Amino acid sequence: DKAVIGVTGLAVMGRNLARNLARHGHVVALHNRTVARTKALVEEFGHEGRFVPAETAEEFVASLERPRRLVIMVKAGAPTDAVIEEFAPLLEPGDMIVDGGNAHFADTRRREAALRERGLHFVGAGISGGEEGALNGPSIMPGGSAESYQALGPLLESIAATVDGTPCCVHVGPDGAGHFVKMVHNGIEYADMQLIAEAYDLLRQGAGLAPAEIAEVFRSWNSGRLDSYLIEITAEVLAHTDARTGKPFVDIILDQAEQKGTGRWTVQTALDLGVPVSGIAEAVFARSVSGHAELRQAGHGLPGPRAAAGDVSPDDVEKALYASKIIAYAQGFNQIQAASAEYGWEIDPGAMATIWRGGCIIRAKFLDRIRGAYESDPQRPTLLTDDHFTQALGDAQNAWRGIVATSARLGIPAPGFASALAYYDALRADRLPAALTQAQRDFFGAHTYRRVDAEGSFHTRWESGRTEEPAN
Ligand code: 6PG
Repeated sequence: DKAVIGVTGLAVMGRNLARNLARHGHVVALHNRTVARTKALVEEFGHEGRFVPAETAEEFVASLERPRRLVIMVKAGAPTDAVIEEFAPLLEPGDMIVDGGNAHFADTRRREAALRERGLHFVGAGISGGEEGALNGPSIMPGGSAESYQALGPLLESIAATVDGTPCCVHVGPDGAGHFVKMVHNGIEYADMQLIAEAYDLLRQGAGLAPAEIAEVFRSWNSGRLDSYLIEITAEVLAHTDARTGKPFVDIILDQAEQKGTGRWTVQTALDLGVPVSGIAEAVFARSVSGHAELRQAGHGLPGPRAAAGDVSPDDVEKALYASKIIAYAQGFNQIQAASAEYGWEIDPGAMATIWRGGCIIRAKFLDRIRGAYESDPQRPTLLTDDHFTQALGDAQNAWRGIVATSARLGIPAPGFASALAYYDALRADRLPAALTQAQRDFFGAHTYRRVDAEGSFHTRWESGRTEEPAN
């Protein structure tokens, strides 16, 4: 029997994806650079389904039915290119290579174009949900041609998570669209995690609660509108005690956050597209600040309040968290829409919210609200105008402003909450001081400005103050 799909790269993500496919009745070809891994998988999990192990690339390719579906699960970057170059010469027109790693969408665009020239389909597919998701049902974001999705979609949908009977997998759009959306998913993941961290810090330092008590607060939030995987695991982490010392586990972990790069890519790309994703940017920078041990050492003695418990109420923190979360997601969805317009991807933002409801790291009840918001108006310029979100932002006003003010007063850094509020107020403002910025630019560099009462660009001769002239 030939295999319907093959997986090469059998580290934990690849292995779990292969097992997931086999458990759903698909015959799965297996390949890994070192054969030992392939053998180990068959030995340990061979009973779960039908695997066709291959020792060489040629054997692997020969074991696949045509058109071939070949999933590569290797490290993003050079290793991905190396594996593509190993297999592409062995394939025939119409065959498909699926990259399930966290590739940069620009790499995916380049690879897709190059392989298309050679008659092959290249599908950059974002896969979220970690090890557990890969095995039991991830959220899958495949890009590439519509034709390739016809051949791959049913397979991928069969192994994805489902919510209300709908699979968490949909064709995102051409070439790099899938990996772009996965990247923004990760950027939003960073923002959400940062907001949760700030909420924890405010409850710990601002309300004086112990980690075990905060775990209970998060647990209660998880049965409300904040119901989500990240809130759920936060409660678990905070309830955890270190076996060695008996201390709250969170206290024995070095407070320097690391990152593999997808959040940074999201911000870099947003800057190029001109989309304000301040929530994601603050999250990336907050991780960066935390990691600068010397800088923090140098700053440690600087004057200011030493955080002492104040009058922070958990209910207010919940409101500030929910409001800030709405902002962060609204910004991320705007980035997807901007890229979709820039690259002609025609991404349906509501469909992205739909496939993020299950399987992925940011899965949450909340995403069904976002799905609904785009269902009622697919063209909406911002999620903030959806009735539910507008009302939540309205209800949060006192709490949100109070929490931002209190964090500043107590000396507890809350860049996520504060920047979300600033973004919100900027969108609401009648006038922004950007007018002054424009005047300054014209003053020192003759960069011109536009007027509120006339068309065209103007430049003022600031020495005389009087002369204004249309610049073009
Ligand atoms: C997912 C995760 C996954 C990975 C993150 C971690 O969707 O399953 O996002 O892709 O765990 O990329 O990212 P950092 O190491 O950058 O925090």
